[in-house]
This record gives sequence, structure tokens and C-alpha cells, in this order.
Amino acid sequence: MVISATTSDSCPSTASTSLPTVDKVSRDQLRKTIRAARKSLSVAEQSQASINACQRMLDALKVNQVKHVALYLTHDGELATPPLIEALWQLGIQTYLPRLHPFNAGQLVFLHYSANTPMQPNQFGILEPKLDVRAIMPIERLDVVITPLVAFDLKGNRMGMGGGYYDRTLANWQDKGKPLPMGYAHDCQQVTHLPCEHWDVPLPFIITPSRVLKF
Ligand SMILES: Nc1ncnc2c1ncn2[C@@H]1O[C@H](COP(=O)(O)OP(=O)(O)OP(=O)(O)O)[C@@H](O)[C@H]1O
Ligand SMILES: [Mg+2]
Repeated sequence: MVISATTSDSCPSTASTSLPTVDKVSRDQLRKTIRAARKSLSVAEQSQASINACQRMLDALKVNQVKHVALYLTHDGELATPPLIEALWQLGIQTYLPRLHPFNAGQLVFLHYSANTPMQPNQFGILEPKLDVRAIMPIERLDVVITPLVAFDLKGNRMGMGGGYYDRTLANWQDKGKPLPMGYAHDCQQVTHLPCEHWDVPLPFIITPSRVLKF
């Protein structure tokens, strides 16, 4: 199986790259390859990608009349979220960010996020809201969790950074049908097949700058 070269104009720097086959690389090697591809995007490419993906995500969210959306702050070349966050605020949609759970190792907790939210970097160098119990949102009250990811395939399989945080946090989402996980990623993060494990939570939606994928 071969990692697909992108079909999108949003990742021109990787479109011609000859990538290795998934069978021959470990999950960690695959992570390295895809992380390097998304990091190689120029500032202009990142910016255009974030604008294109933002519009697709907004259309999807409006159709579903969501009110409470968790997302992420961009890190490590991930598809940038600032245009989406601004647009959600203008629509009056409440936004939330994950932070590492203070007691339950390996879990995430979601806190309300506004322009005035005090932030601090976590152990991975990712900015997260300072712990404030008044801002905590129970996961079952979120409508959507927009997840970052490292790689995805056309079955909705997702590979993250390797911590298992989203897998644990979203493990039971189907019991109540919410929050709906939606992947958000560059087109160049698509592979033809992901080697997944039983704990990996597949995504019912993935939005890229060029496509809305529904599974
Ligand atoms: N629901 C779960 N319960 C217990 N352990 C889990 C669960 N989900 C994942 N893990 C553990 O987390 C570790 C990392 O998982 P994995 O490699 O799938 O991370 P990932 O999907 O890349 O990360 P993330 O979910 O943070 O984006 C694995 O060792 C796995 O055993
Ligand atoms: Mg996983």
C-alpha cells in the first residue's frame, strides 16, 4: 500500500514527493513522514489552506446547527484554526479547547475558550487554557470535537501524535451520538491505508481544504 500523493493544490510541496509504503514503516515513522510534509507548507499555503477548510467546516457546522464546538490551537504544522475560531465567535458559537486532565492521566478536559482566556503551555509546548473549574465543559455537552490528526485514510481511520488522548476521550462518543468527532487536516495528510488498532476511534467526518469526507 502506498501513501497517496496529495490531489490538492493546497499541498504542492508534497504532491511530487515519493513517499514510502505504509507496510514498510512503523506508525511512528509514518508520523514523522506526514508531520514533515505538513510542516514543509509555506506560510502562504498554510494560510490559503486554513481559509478554504474554514469555509467547508462552517458549512458543515451550520447544517448541523451546532452551538458548542471544541477545537485545537495550531501546532506542528497542523491545519490552522485561527480563521475558523474567529468565524465561530462571530456566529455566536461557543468554542472550547482541550487541556491535559489534571487528575486522570491520558485524558483530556475541555474548557471554554474566548479572546480573554488565560493560556499556558503544557508539557508538549501546546498552549491550553489555565485550569478554571468554572470554564470546564462536560464532554457530553459538546456538539462537536474538531480533532487534529497526523494522518487519515479514506475509511475515516485516524492517527494522532501518539498519546492516545483523543482515543480515550472519544472512546464512547457513539453511546450518546455526541460529541461528533470531526477531523480537520491538510490534504497531504491522507494515506491510502492506516495501520489501526482496536482503540483507535474512527472519524465520521474529515474536512480538508479541498474536501468534506463523510463515512
Ligand atoms: N481508550 C483507550 N484506553 C486505554 N488506552 C488507550 C486508549 N486509546 C489509546 N490508548 C493507548 O494510547 C497509546 C497511544 O495510542 P495511539 O498510538 O492510537 O495514539 P494517537 O491516536 O496517535 O493519539 P491521540 O489519540 O492523542 O491523537 C496506545 O499505547 C494505546 O494503548
Ligand atoms: Mg489512535
